Amino acid sequence: MFDDLIMPPADKILSLMPIFRQDSRSNKIDLGVGVYRDASGTTPIPRAVREAEKRIHTAQTTKAYVGPAGDPVFCDLIGRLVFGEAAPWERIRGIQTPGGAGALTVLAGLISLARPGAAVHVPDPTWVNHVSILEDNGLRVVTYPYLDRRTGEVDFDTLLDHFSRSERGDIVLLHGCCHNPTGADPSRSQWQALAEIIAERGLVPLVDIAYQGFGEGLEDDAFVVRLLAGMVPEMLVSSSCSKNFGIYRERTGAAFILARNADRADAAKAQLTVRARVVYSMPPDHGSAIVRTVLEDPALAADWRAELDDMRSSILSLRQGLAASFRRFTNGSDYDFLAKNKGMFSLIGLTPGEAVMLREQHAIYIVEDGRINVAGLQASQIDTFAEAVLAVRGKR
Ligand SMILES: Cc1ncc(COP(=O)(O)O)c(C=O)c1O
Repeated sequence: MFDDLIMPPADKILSLMPIFRQDSRSNKIDLGVGVYRDASGTTPIPRAVREAEKRIHTAQTTKAYVGPAGDPVFCDLIGRLVFGEAAPWERIRGIQTPGGAGALTVLAGLISLARPGAAVHVPDPTWVNHVSILEDNGLRVVTYPYLDRRTGEVDFDTLLDHFSRSERGDIVLLHGCCHNPTGADPSRSQWQALAEIIAERGLVPLVDIAYQGFGEGLEDDAFVVRLLAGMVPEMLVSSSCSKNFGIYRERTGAAFILARNADRADAAKAQLTVRARVVYSMPPDHGSAIVRTVLEDPALAADWRAELDDMRSSILSLRQGLAASFRRFTNGSDYDFLAKNKGMFSLIGLTPGEAVMLREQHAIYIVEDGRINVAGLQASQIDTFAEAVLAVRGKR
């Protein structure tokens, strides 16, 4: 039965992890894997999360099943974090999922059920797993132009032109904030213009918000979700708690749908729940219990928000340091986009061959497409990194 199976291509991000671990050079730097790191290089467990875990450990009396849709209180709390208080709640439903990837999986299954073989427009480039999850659910992936590689910013006119020619009913995948891998987000006025085209042309937005709080803040980062929720009859949203709560391995997220009316919302939620039952039966409970405990306690919630603000500020100061370092070494502004990009990722503009040189000659690990995780840098490594990038590009 397994005789004809071929090895799948290596995952460009995950395959770096074991190579990095085995690298014995003491000066090695990991900018590959997408996790936040603090000044000591560790991925911290936020204080509020630790405290919530203690409370859960003491108070929990059973590990009996919760159910395929997970904890409704968690869904409500995350729903309010994402959609804000003023959303059309009677038309919104959500279920708890194993991370953002689980949410995208059940949402892709729902799209496929409602519109078999539908076209889903994804940005070029996008998170690689988007394409895999959508195609695995029988959907047709179409790319839309996203990045102006000369400026490191969104190529907005070309993007808008793409959507002004899309078919009614097509699905449009948007990164809610902190675009992965480019770090380039549309401005508010650009989101507004894009939302108008989406509404006018009857496109259905699928917003993936995996880094809420890492860009401009919890509220500001949800701008496009909230904007669209007030403008379109139907939308889908995938939300992840992995990064902003620092609970990556606890697999915590939520899938939401906004429907034309309460009746359609109930039907869509019931079908989403069937998808969950078929794919993984039920989401894990621990992560959602942590999130619920934090968000239900005003003191813990305030502490979590403060720590999230610190993470965002630390990424921002690394970005500014990096742009300043490149400015010094190049006497130019080619890398200024690094300070403008949002969230953990940017494309540093290296070819796959140059990325390999960076790894082999300088012990710096980045993804082959040139994606760097800015949060993987420590302030003391900024100049080393900038010099190494310029060296492999033959600019130094
Ligand atoms: C854009 C994007 N969406 C979704 C996810 C899924 O996150 P998780 O499944 O770990 O919650 C990620 C994780 O890297 C991501 O970058």
